[in-house]
Amino acid sequence: MSPSLQSNELSQRINAAAEALLEHFGTLPSTLIVAGSGLGGFAATLKDATSLGYGDIPHFPVSTVVGHAGKLVKGKCEGHEVLVMNGRKHLYEGVDSTEATLPLRALLKAGIKTVILSNAAGALNVRFDVGDLMLITDQINNMYRNPLMGGNLDDLGPRFPDMSEPYSRELATIAREVAVEKGIPLREGVYIANMGPTYETQAEVQMLRQFGDVVGMSTAPETLVAIHAGARVLGITLVSNSLVRRTDVVTTHDEVMEAGKEAAGKFNELVGGVVRRLHQ
Ligand code: HPA
Repeated sequence: MSPSLQSNELSQRINAAAEALLEHFGTLPSTLIVAGSGLGGFAATLKDATSLGYGDIPHFPVSTVVGHAGKLVKGKCEGHEVLVMNGRKHLYEGVDSTEATLPLRALLKAGIKTVILSNAAGALNVRFDVGDLMLITDQINNMYRNPLMGGNLDDLGPRFPDMSEPYSRELATIAREVAVEKGIPLREGVYIANMGPTYETQAEVQMLRQFGDVVGMSTAPETLVAIHAGARVLGITLVSNSLVRRTDVVTTHDEVMEAGKEAAGKFNELVGGVVRRLHQ
């Protein structure tokens, strides 16, 4: 398939999905929250919620990962309408980054302006504890894939998007203020996106810790397409395991999910506070 054909087809798919979203939900709220591993409970805190399964939206890939429900939930958070993506497709599931980010691009096309991305990640920073929340200040896309490869979708954004400040300074300030207000400790640092699905070897950990504070398997491609489309991004990581403190213990997906459950209260409070501030 030639790149231009591919981008035509991608554009058509994004448009079809965006139209279906608008048809189902009416106008979309301006804020989207993408719930990471173990953080899907946030959607259950919404009032007057309605949901739509990914299987009912054209071209939305369904996640195969435990803990990723695969539905969009619209409802009220702190009295304000938001949309939650419960479940995301990861590149390690075997889709390319363009396909994995199609849902987000459709949502951006349908009117989302502010994207709150969350994820679970392993700590590379020795000061970080399991259960900590971290504000993502910057990212390293170590996946060797870029979802914006191929013909550019000019109606969404520019060919060469600036990436000097992918995480909104304004949103980061709000998150810091909310954290202080609510007494939620908030770490800060650089998120490295690895392809997965394997967790890191000790040699990889030694390399990666020179460059970042946490490592995960998502988020970076979503940030790239959101910035391309002119949206603002806030990134919150839940530290689900430490890669530097316990070389004698293996990392498991169950451990990642368990940490999510324990930190869910803090996460929900932080995001709720940010949503409230966005509407003041
Ligand atoms: N490495 C990569 N991705 C992850 C980890 C990790 O240790 N924990 C949760 N997601």
